[in-house]
Amino acid sequence: MDYSNMIAKAKEAMNFAYTKYSNFNVGAALLTKSGKIYTGCNVENSSYGATICAERVAFTKAVSEGEREFEAIAIVSSSKDFTYPCGICRQFMSEWGTNLKLVVENGQEIKVYTLKELLPEAFTEF
Ligand code: THU
Repeated sequence: MDYSNMIAKAKEAMNFAYTKYSNFNVGAALLTKSGKIYTGCNVENSSYGATICAERVAFTKAVSEGEREFEAIAIVSSSKDFTYPCGICRQFMSEWGTNLKLVVENGQEIKVYTLKELLPEAFTEF
């Protein structure tokens, strides 16, 4: 699978990151099973705790438009290293299945994981 389009879209979204407090910009591009892409960036808040990560922004945009089935999410950041989703985002994303592919890159290399690999034994009520 060629993830270059998703990575390009995540980089575009990263330009909108609102990172007044950390200056750490993140962009995400979420691919639905039907082929649509929803983007997100991190949106920080003066309370710090109300900050929303790029991944959850992309997911909430998609879910609030009726999407429920997801194939992959690309995550990029202003750091030169790979950026992996935080624990809250891993749990949040697991709501729609742990077969989701996570695509991360460091400007040179792309790595692909499944959410299952990064969140083994995810909590679920059912
Ligand atoms: N952040 C994300 O948006 N996604 C991640 O995967 C890691 C962290 C944001 C939260 C905060 O705005 C900034 O990066 C620094 O933690």
